[in-house]
Amino acid sequence: MLTIADILDDLRKLGIKEGDRVLVHTSLSKVGMLEGGPAAFVEAIVSAVGNEGLAVFPTFTGTAQDSAENPPYFDVRETPCWTGKVPEAARRREDAIRSLHPTHSVVAIGADNKQLVKDHEKVETPCSHGSPFMKLAENSGKILLVGVDHNSNTTFHTAEELADCPYHMLPEPALATVVDYQGKEHKILTALHKWGTERDFNRLEEEFIKQGIQRNGKIGNALCRLIDTKPMLEVAVAILKKDPYFLVVN
Ligand SMILES: CC(C)(COP(=O)(O)OP(=O)(O)OC[C@H]1O[C@@H](n2cnc3c(N)ncnc32)[C@H](O)[C@@H]1OP(=O)(O)O)[C@@H](O)C(=O)NCCC(=O)NCCS
Repeated sequence: MLTIADILDDLRKLGIKEGDRVLVHTSLSKVGMLEGGPAAFVEAIVSAVGNEGLAVFPTFTGTAQDSAENPPYFDVRETPCWTGKVPEAARRREDAIRSLHPTHSVVAIGADNKQLVKDHEKVETPCSHGSPFMKLAENSGKILLVGVDHNSNTTFHTAEELADCPYHMLPEPALATVVDYQGKEHKILTALHKWGTERDFNRLEEEFIKQGIQRNGKIGNALCRLIDTKPMLEVAVAILKKDPYFLVVN
């Protein structure tokens, strides 16, 4: 049985330091049995980055059924995410704050967490300018993939949005309903991802490793990838601007 101390030790070996700002995508079952379960995993990440750092977890709620005709409904206090038990545990913490985006909310714990989630619901597209994903890129953020590969790396959607990939967004926005922390309802016009185009984000992994912007390691039994967000985006956007279908599986 693993403990928080084991996870912390592995996070240090992988290169997570105090003060890091890290977005974490997780498959906990790949790690192995952890005493304290998902909440303990969150605690390990939070203590690894320390008081000056920031731990961020995706708490996505958007589905393939979302559309202008079927707009998303999101209550920041209650709507569960489909991105795993670890983000579910993160959003329940007293020190966590969740962004108000109706499909791509994140939970942030630590220094400047309010700044990271601020105005996410007002962005033009879910993952680009003004979103937490972009703010992490602009503030020396990192991405940690725990037991999952780049197909769970949401920041690839940031790249697709910045490069204006033609397959990525629905043509019509939706008037989403968002309920805030005070229980107040807001109607928010939201651009929606278009589901259904199969991509392989792992196509750029070799390049990331070659450029020294991705390190691999282990947390428990899980193969993990730690990526520097800004250079990762630069590589991906440059390629997608030349070939917008580079990541699409034919
Ligand atoms: C979908 C996904 C979350 C499923 O992963 P998973 O490992 O099966 O599930 P979770 O991470 O939610 O962890 C819960 C599982 O861990 C295991 N588990 C239970 N207790 C545990 C413990 N104490 N210690 C370790 N693992 C435990 C169980 O298998 C449990 O599954 P169950 O609740 O169905 O019994 C994962 O594959 C994934 O895609 N993660 C990334 C999501 C993401 O960020 N996507 C971005 C999209 S752009």
